[in-house]
Amino acid sequence: SLRRSTNVVWQNTDITREIRAQQKCQKPLTLWFTGLSGSGKSTLANEVEKGLVAMGKHTMLLDGDNVRHGLNKNLGFKEADRIENIRRIAEVAKLMNDAGIITLTAFISPYKDDRENARRIIGKEFVEIYVSTPLEECEKRDVKGLYKKARAGEIPNFTGISSPYEAPDNPDIEIDTSKFSIETAADIVIKHILKYSNGL
Ligand code: PPS
Repeated sequence: SLRRSTNVVWQNTDITREIRAQQKCQKPLTLWFTGLSGSGKSTLANEVEKGLVAMGKHTMLLDGDNVRHGLNKNLGFKEADRIENIRRIAEVAKLMNDAGIITLTAFISPYKDDRENARRIIGKEFVEIYVSTPLEECEKRDVKGLYKKARAGEIPNFTGISSPYEAPDNPDIEIDTSKFSIETAADIVIKHILKYSNGL
């Protein structure tokens, strides 16, 4: 919702996000991975994070399944809940960036409008990474057995089966994890990011 908080005044602090980032000697970014369930978002984000940590970076990975156990445990998978899920994640990613941290998020984030909203919240630090592994491949992998259940009608609103996934038209990076090893895929992403942000 676009409602504004009333009777709440923004407080400026002496230590700014720029100073916090300088303290970490890095440029904060939010690497926003989007894609179907089983597309490899979490695995890829995890591998990219390992690469960034090996480069001495301070990172934080927010993962769909994990965040839904805590911060967002009151949310399900109907449209309104997914919208709120993504809005909260975007706000958290922004706070992490304010703290100088390179943040990686791995959520299906199926709606274009919500990803655009995340981009608005996070600002120029937002990098959209489309994990474009095709549905057939995700369904073949079916790591968690969820596609089978969804096809059997046991999971309502399952993304790609009974709930939409709106692919990005113009992602900053696109990668199909069925075409590369995980190490190569992570390398490709890191190289793109280094180029994109002119060093980290
Ligand atoms: S969303 O759409 O961005 O709010 O979803 P997200 O927070 O990333 O959560 C996706 C994981 O939840 C499991 N799961 C479902 N996914 C899609 N649709 C339905 N109905 C559903 N129910 C449970 C599933 O394990 C997703 O994990 P990933 O890692 O994406 O496979």
